[in-house]
Amino acid sequence: MNFTILRFDTLESTNTEAVNQARRGADEGVCVIAARQTAGRGRHGRTWISDEGAGLYFSIVLRPVIEKRFLPLITLTAAVAVADTLRGLYDLKPDIKWVNDILIKGKKISGILAEMTETEKGAAVIVGIGINLRHSNFPPEIAAIATSIEAETLQTPDLNELVRNLTRNFDRSYRILQSANGPPEIIRQWSVRSSYASGKAVRATLANEMVTGVTDGLEETGALRVKTDSGEVKIIQTGDVESLR
Ligand code: BTN
Repeated sequence: MNFTILRFDTLESTNTEAVNQARRGADEGVCVIAARQTAGRGRHGRTWISDEGAGLYFSIVLRPVIEKRFLPLITLTAAVAVADTLRGLYDLKPDIKWVNDILIKGKKISGILAEMTETEKGAAVIVGIGINLRHSNFPPEIAAIATSIEAETLQTPDLNELVRNLTRNFDRSYRILQSANGPPEIIRQWSVRSSYASGKAVRATLANEMVTGVTDGLEETGALRVKTDSGEVKIIQTGDVESLR
């Protein structure tokens, strides 16, 4: 993939800018980076606090050629790339909490938000990646559950090096996703990097239901299987999952 990196000082959200770029015809590989976001978005309508220089705020335009049912796997593809980047560059030991939170010793260091948009060139997927570089002005409830590259390595990360590695790793895992047998291979690669893939006691909070049980692998579309105490297997398509231990 050819990457074109567009850098901005301030944006509402790099995802919003990337959606607009895609609608204006941007090719796959156009990346948007901002030093700060004034309205950074997280999953489920949450805010992603995006102080200047405190994080990498990165979004990429994709025009994937895969079966529609496998589109959710793009998020897992990105999570694999982020985990490999943190491990390769900083020797960290990342875990992936289903479906796309990257954790270091149980604390969140990175989140991923994928969005789809229709364009004249067909559907585009925008993958937004936020990585905490240093501790910013998080409110106490977030500070307690978040970490950053600086906090974990006691070193100031080089942003250009981080972006170079992230795009290289993303290119690698995205090629795998689009190759023959790509979807099961991405599931496999995600699963070996995630303690949440199987055997983890979790509580999943869905729109109108709470499920507790033990994780039991992923479906081919990336949905999480949770075996409840009664032995029933629930398929979690979307929602928040918390470890119970
Ligand atoms: C989450 O964990 O809830 C997802 C967080 C995604 C944050 C990134 S930062 C870059 C991109 N732009 C946004 O507005 N959100 C994503």
